[in-house]
Amino acid sequence: MAANALDAELDLDAYWMPFSHNRYYKQSAEHRSNRLLARAEGSYYWTTEGNKLYDALSGLWCCGLGHRHPKLVEAVKKQLDVLDYGTAFQMGTPGVFKLAERIAEAAPAGFEHVFFCNSGSEAVDTALKMALAYHRARGEAHRTRFIGREKGYHGVGFGGISVGGMVANRKMFAAGMLQGVDHLPHTHNLKEMAFSRGEPDYGTHLADELERLVALHDASTIAAVIVEPMQGSAGVIVPPKGYLKRLRELCSKHGILLIFDEVITGFGRMGKPFAAQHWDVTPDLITFAKGVNNGLVPMGGVIATKQIYDTFMTGPEHMVEFFHGYTYSGHALAVAAAHAALDVIAEEDIYQRVNSLSRSLEETVHGLKGEANIIDIRNCQLAAAVELAPIEGKPGLRAIRVFEEALKRGVLFRFTGDIIAMGPTFISTPDELSRMTEVLRDSIRAAG
Ligand SMILES: Cc1ncc(COP(=O)(O)O)c(C=O)c1O
Repeated sequence: MAANALDAELDLDAYWMPFSHNRYYKQSAEHRSNRLLARAEGSYYWTTEGNKLYDALSGLWCCGLGHRHPKLVEAVKKQLDVLDYGTAFQMGTPGVFKLAERIAEAAPAGFEHVFFCNSGSEAVDTALKMALAYHRARGEAHRTRFIGREKGYHGVGFGGISVGGMVANRKMFAAGMLQGVDHLPHTHNLKEMAFSRGEPDYGTHLADELERLVALHDASTIAAVIVEPMQGSAGVIVPPKGYLKRLRELCSKHGILLIFDEVITGFGRMGKPFAAQHWDVTPDLITFAKGVNNGLVPMGGVIATKQIYDTFMTGPEHMVEFFHGYTYSGHALAVAAAHAALDVIAEEDIYQRVNSLSRSLEETVHGLKGEANIIDIRNCQLAAAVELAPIEGKPGLRAIRVFEEALKRGVLFRFTGDIIAMGPTFISTPDELSRMTEVLRDSIRAAG
């Protein structure tokens, strides 16, 4: 492996890395081998050692169109020559109005309004606030509870961790959690659904647990249910057949808003603009981020139905209707990148490509069945995961070893617990997916 002069020059202490094992990373050059990124293009990164890595997770689920897409780069450069930052409060730009229109057009019928922020976490907070304020404006201020789901990931704001269901993200911050939140059970059941291709047959009935929560708390206290249609961060947990439809029915029956957190599933990965269209289930609010501009400049947002928006549009017209927003809401550079991303999605026929590539992904990853230490393989459109048997007494260690072995072989995977997640770029070829899978096979064998 090439020597890494750049690594040797760095003092690593000051940077507190997010969601990372800081001490392990900083401990030795060996632990950092191939883990300093120097450049990126298309589906690949190059490390400071000069090694090329296939990006098996599209950044962090955000760069589906490939890194440094020339059209996106050009759009942002052009924008910089015209307007850098334009304040969003009481002001606007033509670009941001046009972008909202385009996103609303891509969304399911009835979604007509877009609120911009800068990340998935902010999008979730925004959607939760919209839900509370909506009920209040309708005279149902008693609807204050949120229902999330075990193993759910909705970012790291206090709203997101409260409705989220990952214990590691919650336990340290228990004192700051939103009150009155409850959770649906997760749908990850290896005994019943291991090695399912696409949506598992088992688990539809788990949506009915909402009835139990309604019986416990009373519907009149519940503002919204929030779920990821496909759970990405917990390791690609695919909704059971009919599960989302059932949730929709129950929410409608009880006057509860349904929020789809589409931060990962929005803008391409499901082979449609949104998972709502892939499953033909229409929520009341949709959160998005990541793919909206291919991760080029931070951006997130919430898409609301006309009915929700209109509910806010009351009172004196000179008054602010929703006391919420961010300094960088609809940042000009993020907007420029998003317009270019939407252009590229159309010009490069991305949804159709994702649908066809998804079939290749399913074939290739399920070909790993039978390898030692694999206890599940699952897939959902252009997302897949391989779950490994934990090493006794050391959960997570096997996946770290696989991750490191794969880096040596030129592929960057994502691991969460003992799960290896894959979310390839939309521009990948079937051959690249096969190569990725073979690297995973070799890495699992080498990790032992
Ligand atoms: C479903 C979902 N919601 C929210 C978030 C948080 O997004 P961010 O990291 O941009 O705050 C993520 C991030 O992966 C996500 O997957």
